[in-house]
Amino acid sequence: MPKPRLAVVGVGLIGIRHAELIAASPDAELAAVADPSPIGPREAGRLGTRHYADYNDMLDRERPDGVYVAAPNQLHLAAGLACIARGIPAVIEKPLCDTLEAGAELVRASEAAGVPLLVGHHRRYNPRVEATREILARGELGRIVAVNALWAVRKPDDYFDATWRRTAGGGPILINMIHDVDCLRHFCGEIAEVQAYGSSAARGFEVEDTAVVAVRFASGALASIALTDAAPSPWGWEAGSGDNPNIAASFENCYRFLGTAAALDFPNLTVWKGATAEPASWADAIHPETRAWAGHEALPRQLEHFLDVIAGTATPRIDGRDGLATLAATLAITDAIATGRAAAPAPPPA
Ligand SMILES: NC(=O)c1ccc[n+]([C@@H]2O[C@H](COP(=O)([O-])OP(=O)(O)OC[C@H]3O[C@@H](n4cnc5c(N)ncnc54)[C@H](O)[C@@H]3O)[C@@H](O)[C@H]2O)c1
Repeated sequence: MPKPRLAVVGVGLIGIRHAELIAASPDAELAAVADPSPIGPREAGRLGTRHYADYNDMLDRERPDGVYVAAPNQLHLAAGLACIARGIPAVIEKPLCDTLEAGAELVRASEAAGVPLLVGHHRRYNPRVEATREILARGELGRIVAVNALWAVRKPDDYFDATWRRTAGGGPILINMIHDVDCLRHFCGEIAEVQAYGSSAARGFEVEDTAVVAVRFASGALASIALTDAAPSPWGWEAGSGDNPNIAASFENCYRFLGTAAALDFPNLTVWKGATAEPASWADAIHPETRAWAGHEALPRQLEHFLDVIAGTATPRIDGRDGLATLAATLAITDAIATGRAAAPAPPPA
């Protein structure tokens, strides 16, 4: 059986990681990459694949079996529609799109054509995320009452040379916090409402550099999320999990789950609880127990899953509708910041 031929649209920071993974995979072939910048031909040459400046040309000439769309957020709709029009399943990097209208259009097109989309919320493939879901499903923590989440890094100044990252449709809420929003939905269920503050005082861009969000879940649980891309820290998913070679690992925790029976530090998977079956009261000592987890990094597992979706042996773990729900919750945060009022995620499209 010939290996599935995959192509990548946009080989910048994340697209090149997808292209390298495909090129190294025994189960897939890197058919081509499309990127109009000088990075395109350079990286295609390094990986021994063909380069196109225009992704439409690439799709027509190569007819790949699957495509990763890793271009700027503002281009996800057009590139996604181009794949769907040709019947090619696609992984769309997160956010699904830069606006809800664009996201809904992409979901409708995918559903009408029966062409699967997989949204790149890759953290869900991480074994520690899966182990946490099991801890929560077993009820080890009791009922979740609150979660505290933190994501703080100092991005290098040249990261912002790319205009799209500092203008509407970019910004760390849509680029980074959306991952935490997706994780929190995955762990705690749907988000009913958010309140938020944003600030651009550190970098002075059109988009925020810092935000603090209060979240109310439909379950009644609450969460707080603090984010900044202007302050060095050891706290954040990538630093805590060691899941991204571009961000130095600290293996410090970034989420704290508070349940009626026990607490959980994440991603170290340390459960804190009392010595008896009864939930510890404030005078009782509580003890740490670290839970085991095993498995590989998220991106290779996302690729394996995408190959199954292409083969028709799996349906997307994170389909367009799921990615749109995470986008709606994330854009509720930007609405709350803009209006100064609590905001609810927009309902899913018909
Ligand atoms: N899953 C993750 O952890 C993760 C991490 C980083 C970025 N992302 C997402 O991936 C996307 C890309 O982010 P990035 O940080 O790699 O951006 P980037 O700016 O580093 O790379 C984007 C690339 O797309 C290229 N491009 C621009 N217009 C194009 C076009 N018309 N056709 C093809 N390529 C085009 C650019 O030349 C650039 O090389 C964004 O949507 C971002 O939110 C996801």
